[in-house]
Amino acid sequence: MILVVGGTGRLGRAVVPLLVQAGHKVRIMARGNSQPFAMTVSDGVELFHGDLASETDCREAVTGCGEVVFAASGFGLKDSDPRGVDRDGAISLVRAAAVAGVRHVVMMSMHGAALDGPIDFLRCKAAAEDAVRSSGMDWTVIRIGSLLEQRLETMTALLESKGKVPLFGSGSAPVTYTSVQDAAAVVVRALLDPALRNRVIEWGSQTLTGNQLAEALLAQAGRGSVQRIPAAAFRVLSVAARPFSPFLARVAGAGAWEESGAASFAFGPQRAEFPDIPVTGLQLGKPAG
Ligand SMILES: NC(=O)c1ccc[n+]([C@@H]2O[C@H](COP(=O)([O-])OP(=O)(O)OC[C@H]3O[C@@H](n4cnc5c(N)ncnc54)[C@H](OP(=O)(O)O)[C@@H]3O)[C@@H](O)[C@H]2O)c1
Repeated sequence: MILVVGGTGRLGRAVVPLLVQAGHKVRIMARGNSQPFAMTVSDGVELFHGDLASETDCREAVTGCGEVVFAASGFGLKDSDPRGVDRDGAISLVRAAAVAGVRHVVMMSMHGAALDGPIDFLRCKAAAEDAVRSSGMDWTVIRIGSLLEQRLETMTALLESKGKVPLFGSGSAPVTYTSVQDAAAVVVRALLDPALRNRVIEWGSQTLTGNQLAEALLAQAGRGSVQRIPAAAFRVLSVAARPFSPFLARVAGAGAWEESGAASFAFGPQRAEFPDIPVTGLQLGKPAG
């Protein structure tokens, strides 16, 4: 049995069908708050309504599982945060998994994860990485870039509603994105291929500037314009918004981090090790260049 924590999320929804198609038994853990449970028991997937904040739920979720994929996140939630989910939730789940005899944990993380990283999310991810590395179980840490589809959805939503594509800062900083499909493919590979055990894998799909993304979206839509949010404004928001909207503060902080240029990374060397995993970049009616 493979437990996919956060199996209803953007990445989880891509991973679960791949595992089922490959003949694995899968259990999903989520609260059922931010997303409905997409699959039903008749699809061969066990659904476990559980909260990472509950040690009892963590223990129950891992019972009978040989492998775990941690794909939950509190970054995008207004009712939670990365400290509760990506750090403390991950640590609780890893502890429960080690006690229950789980053999291997795949921990989703992010490029830039570091205990002294510039944003809370990266510090939380580093703490979760440390927990799995020192757990005594086999582990794989997969550091991805921002999920490409999520960024496109955000930009497209505003283009559709307001005719404007929002751009943080200059739009000239390169950002390495990972497509959901590519992230799911490497998760499945990590579960099956011993070559990925006890390693940190940095997995990207395409490096693009905000200007390139905006131009592609505007060209596809054939209408609209760019709305720039000055770098100074989101630097201020990343601190000033904390008391009334921690979510907005997180997004602004992530924008400031991207503007610094630190969100791009060289993914070619790790990709070269696994050339059979296809690269899926920007899909706006044409394949990635
Ligand atoms: N999105 C990105 O750009 C990005 C970048 C780097 C790394 N990552 C990492 O990649 C993984 C997948 O990200 P994603 O964007 O696919 O996530 P997502 O769409 O935001 O989904 C988050 C999932 O976590 C579950 N969850 C949240 N709080 C929970 C709790 N307390 N207990 C149990 N489940 C909980 C959610 O379901 P409920 O709310 O219903 O519980 C949902 O299934 C995450 O570990 C994330 O940190 C993502």
